[in-house]
Amino acid sequence: MNNFVFYSPTKFVFGKDTEGQTGTLAKKYNARKVMIVYGGGSIIRSGLLQRIEESLQQAGVEYVKLGGIQPNPTDPKVYEGIELARKEGVDFMLPVGGGSVIDTAKAIAAGVPYEGDFWDFYIGKAKVKKALKVGVVLTIPAAGSEGSGNTVITKLEGLQKLSLRVPELLRPVFAVMNPELTYTLPPYQTACGIADMMVHIMERYFTNTPDVEISDRLCEGTLMTIIKEAYKVKQDPNDYEARANIMWCGTIAHNGTCGVGCEEDWASHFLEHEISAVYNVTHGAGLAVIVPAWMTFMAEHNPKKIAQFANRVFGVPENEDLEEMALAGVSRLKHFFRYIGLPVNFKELGIEHPDIELLVKKLHENKGEWVGNYVKLNKEYSKEIFELAC
Ligand code: NZQ
Ligand code: ZN
Repeated sequence: MNNFVFYSPTKFVFGKDTEGQTGTLAKKYNARKVMIVYGGGSIIRSGLLQRIEESLQQAGVEYVKLGGIQPNPTDPKVYEGIELARKEGVDFMLPVGGGSVIDTAKAIAAGVPYEGDFWDFYIGKAKVKKALKVGVVLTIPAAGSEGSGNTVITKLEGLQKLSLRVPELLRPVFAVMNPELTYTLPPYQTACGIADMMVHIMERYFTNTPDVEISDRLCEGTLMTIIKEAYKVKQDPNDYEARANIMWCGTIAHNGTCGVGCEEDWASHFLEHEISAVYNVTHGAGLAVIVPAWMTFMAEHNPKKIAQFANRVFGVPENEDLEEMALAGVSRLKHFFRYIGLPVNFKELGIEHPDIELLVKKLHENKGEWVGNYVKLNKEYSKEIFELAC
């Protein structure tokens, strides 16, 4: 196990009706004027926005609103938010939604106290030294942004989708998580969220670091829980206990717990970010296409952990031929993804002829000559993986 520092100060307030505590929580973190950030309208239709406003009013916290954040969020809304926050004297960000909304709020939080262009942080031109506090009300378990210090934004010019990681400043100070809020999710969004959280675990699990038994077992247990509860949610979208288990798995998957002490991979995410940047597909669906292809490639080049995953998570019998075991695991994973309604190749994703040259070019321009760790990918390898996904 490698040395590590793990810092996760987020206060998680989990369970039924917890959104009623939002105002009190914001006040506790000294919010005077908050910016409620939200998406395309699901929280208006469900009545959640009104409940959040009432909760802030009761706590005596002032607020302004910034709506209309689109999935795969882009830079114009960040600039709009920074300007509004400065004009209104906002001192606390309150995203109510999923990863897109939370990540936009984090970008605004970093951008408000900074004199330059917030995009400098994403391209490594400047470091975040100060940020507004962020508190979250989560409506979709998926990206794990409620417990992570990450934010992912797409710059429209050049369709550059980049992530920024600042755990000390951008981890939310609180996250309100009521599983009942997820009943209204369309089945496809539920499924995309499930794929995303599974891959957050797998990016950590597929490591060459030896003797990380605790991390391995945490990963396997969380993956098995997600799969079991996913079947239940597919049968009954209003199954509270299944929704609750999945929601907490989404946080555990990405707040760092599962990867401490390991060299993590993240190539699948970087490959996918190019797909969602160019074709604007849902991140989780893009992952369901890329990960089986990445694993198929790894079955040949470094099968050890893929075979262990196949055996321990999907019950593939042990076999001396690790590649065969690994491929059997890939097949079971694909079957599971298809069962919950996800595509597992470009065609099923609605992209008949992906521009692989462009995807490879952008990937290596953004991430350098070598991508990932489990097996480092050069242009030739990443091309092969994109082709395996067709
Ligand atoms: O916009 P509204 O109308 O709210 O609808 C949203 C949106 O269309 C809908 N939705 C959310 N909660 C709902 C609901 N519909 C009905 N009922 C509810 N309770 O779901 C759609 C997707 O929302 P989005 O926020 O885009 O989903 P997600 O949480 O999957 O976030 C995806 C973004 O996060 C990034 C992804 O790349 C993508 O841009 N990621 C962020 C990470 C991070 N910050 O740590 C890590 C991830 O790997 C990921 O890259
Ligand atoms: Zn992800």
